Amino acid sequence: MSQKPVIYLKDYQAPAYQILTTDLRFELNTEETLVTSHLRIVRAEGADTQAPLQLHGHESVELISLTLDGQPLAAQQWQREGELLSLQALPAEFELICVTRIHPAQNTALEGLYLSDGIYATQCEAEGFRRITFFPDRPDVMSVFTTTLIADQSQYPILLSNGNPIAQGELEGGRHWVTWQDPHPKPAYLFALVAGNLSKFEDHFTTVSGRKVLLQIYAEAKDLDKLAYAMDSLKRAMQWDEEVYGREYDLDIYMIVAVDFFNMGAMENKGLNIFNTACVLAHPRTTTDAAFQRVESVVAHEYFHNWSGNRVTCRDWFQLSLKEGFTVFRDQCFSADMHSETLKRVEEVSMLRTAQFAEDAGPMAHPVRPESFIEISNFYTLTVYEKGAEVVRMLHTLLGPELFRQGTDLYFARHDGQAVTTDDFVQAMADVSGRDLSQFKRWYSQAGTPRLQVRDEYDAAQQIYRLRLKQSCPATPEAAEKLPFHMPVKISLLDDEGALIPGTQQVLELTAAEQVFEFTQIQAQPLPSLLQGFSAPVKLDYPYTDAQLAFLSKHDNDGFNRWEAGQQLAVRLLQRLIADYQAGKPFSLEARLVEVWSSILEDEQIDPAMKSLLLTLPSEAYLSELAEVIDPDAIHQARRFLRQALAQALEAQWLNLWTAMDSEAAYQPTREEIARRSLKNTCLGYLMTLDNAAYLALAESQFNAADNMTEQQAALMAVAHSNFSDSAAALLDEFFHQWQHESLVMNQWLGIQASDPKPGALARVELLRQHPIYDARNPNKLRAVIGTFCQQNPVNFHALDGQGYAFLADRILELDRQNPQIASRLLTPLTRWRKYDAQRQQLMQAQLQRILQEPNLSGDVYEVASKSV
Ligand code: TRP
Ligand code: ZN
Repeated sequence: MSQKPVIYLKDYQAPAYQILTTDLRFELNTEETLVTSHLRIVRAEGADTQAPLQLHGHESVELISLTLDGQPLAAQQWQREGELLSLQALPAEFELICVTRIHPAQNTALEGLYLSDGIYATQCEAEGFRRITFFPDRPDVMSVFTTTLIADQSQYPILLSNGNPIAQGELEGGRHWVTWQDPHPKPAYLFALVAGNLSKFEDHFTTVSGRKVLLQIYAEAKDLDKLAYAMDSLKRAMQWDEEVYGREYDLDIYMIVAVDFFNMGAMENKGLNIFNTACVLAHPRTTTDAAFQRVESVVAHEYFHNWSGNRVTCRDWFQLSLKEGFTVFRDQCFSADMHSETLKRVEEVSMLRTAQFAEDAGPMAHPVRPESFIEISNFYTLTVYEKGAEVVRMLHTLLGPELFRQGTDLYFARHDGQAVTTDDFVQAMADVSGRDLSQFKRWYSQAGTPRLQVRDEYDAAQQIYRLRLKQSCPATPEAAEKLPFHMPVKISLLDDEGALIPGTQQVLELTAAEQVFEFTQIQAQPLPSLLQGFSAPVKLDYPYTDAQLAFLSKHDNDGFNRWEAGQQLAVRLLQRLIADYQAGKPFSLEARLVEVWSSILEDEQIDPAMKSLLLTLPSEAYLSELAEVIDPDAIHQARRFLRQALAQALEAQWLNLWTAMDSEAAYQPTREEIARRSLKNTCLGYLMTLDNAAYLALAESQFNAADNMTEQQAALMAVAHSNFSDSAAALLDEFFHQWQHESLVMNQWLGIQASDPKPGALARVELLRQHPIYDARNPNKLRAVIGTFCQQNPVNFHALDGQGYAFLADRILELDRQNPQIASRLLTPLTRWRKYDAQRQQLMQAQLQRILQEPNLSGDVYEVASKSV
């Protein structure tokens, strides 16, 4: 059982003391690190004079000494209980000096200060600072940090922390020191330090007001040739934030450090971002186009946090979406501007409605602003991030771009230097627009994915068209009954030629449970295009015929909805095939989809990137989310059949298009070239389903000819997942020998094997875990093997012998002692047992029970497992 208490939003209390300055001194030694913290503290205005000062400290932190205004603390003046150290009988203003001892080399949780392949790095968000020293580790306590690092000069020539370097020197015994000062008051979660033997890539950015900012990206020397794209992305993000949000950078130096061991993607520490290597390093030979785009968006995301998160931060962790939802929205718009709005939207929505909708339907469902938690790390979720971004996007849709910008200007001006709430954000939007957004705020407080039912009627005599919108929301753990949302529903009406009926493109605002919208002077029965651009994160229900979907896939005036119509058509077909499989009926291909796919393949007006997306069938994950009861075998077989049938029916067209997309030109990361490679790979994927030796040769030739990872990896994946076992083994081997020294490429290699749907995957995964390049302490490796097998290989993971489930539970129990954040995240697939048949339900539950029986479970795993059984 977990010892950690449940924390509630309703219990929030302002801190009784504020920290004016935090001076830290780190003596980094091989065996241990000594931390001296010197705090100047004042009692908050209006606080009770008897109020204790509460400092947080993790159990792993050894308290060596504590002095108040130069005097050792009397025994009755302090008390350590669990994570809290309380100090009593305090003056209104005082200085506290605290010395602690920590052991970074033994820190496998990767929270606080740890060693990552010989590099000291920190991760303090959300509650990692308490693993370094005793401190009020809460985001509404902000102070000015000055940090001195002392370490061996030859092993750790680079010593970094937040802000500007203000002094440095050498010491006896080959040691040296550097002092950094960050002039901007900040909460402890934004503190960072790095020490190591790192190489750097430098550049400059001149801000709109003419200040020259030094930009540095640090990595191991061997990766120096992979930093240019992150640097370029950073400069574009800096400029975009000036242009689109009027936000200028506020220090003279901006640093990014790449580390191999990292629990998440990256971290926005003030002036010193720390990144997972997977989100910084990029080189065409080793990095796919998709990974390039991830680097760009994560670099931008962390940079944007400098305003949305750092200058204006969160009052408490329930407000996490204040910074994350907003910052994701900002990085989404940035990427859309850099590439294509429609493509980006398709990508976002696909992720939202597979993974976030599934989360919203599962036992861990929570509002964008949660009401309670045991372990805050469990709430860095798709709901807080992606749905949070959708909520900000809806504000943007409701207010329009100009008012939205006025709203963000007001928000930044009003709250600069403060720790605030999502209510404050919405209030700024309400103030600039004069609108009442109180109902809108239900998006923050109510969990669950709303259903939007739309029905229509056409009155030919009156030439009136009516849309009847009805909303509802299923029960989730925090509430059974939901109140109606304020929902922007963007629509257009099309005539029978597919043209937009003038004046009908608009944003309907649904606020009641049921509402009718009337359109006059409509000459003939129109076809509605609903929820354009996915204007609200809901499940839409309108009784389109297959023919209407096929029509919309060609004519919709909204690019997103054109894609959506084709997807929905494919979904229906797949759902019929799934039912056939379950009924023991043979599969058969319906002509309609072949026609639609064929016309997409032939249409030269469609941009290749869009074409690639249009031709990609809905994923197994999306089909699972839509299913009442998930049947992993039926879903897999149905999708496999349809892919193969489309490959066969349109074989010549796939090959022609592959040939047309093949190019001798040297690699370029441009939009056109990315699109070309994407479509080429889509064609290859279809052709390879045919088990035809000629296409195997084609894939091998693509593999051999490729001068870039995008084409090489797609070819490898197609062959590795094919039935040509000998060729698969040979190509995997060749790839391994080519790239065994590139850790990130090896993650791809591991992932391709772990996701192979052919029978026997678990045994192959067990072998991968024994492989010398595998490292069970490295989160990227764990995600590549265990995460991929359990989340992207559903037929094998959900095998009816239950071995996949037992395997995952074994790993969780092992990992929980080592890295609870990662253990808890990997647990997700087991928590979804309610969506499966009785037999699988029972097998999955049994494994959850087994996990819960473990006596010393972390709060992280305990919270997720106990909420899921
Ligand atoms: N704030 C980080 C972001 O940009 C998230 C993050 C990085 C994080 N590392 C973490 C959250 C460790 C929890 C634990 O989204
Ligand atoms: Zn973030």
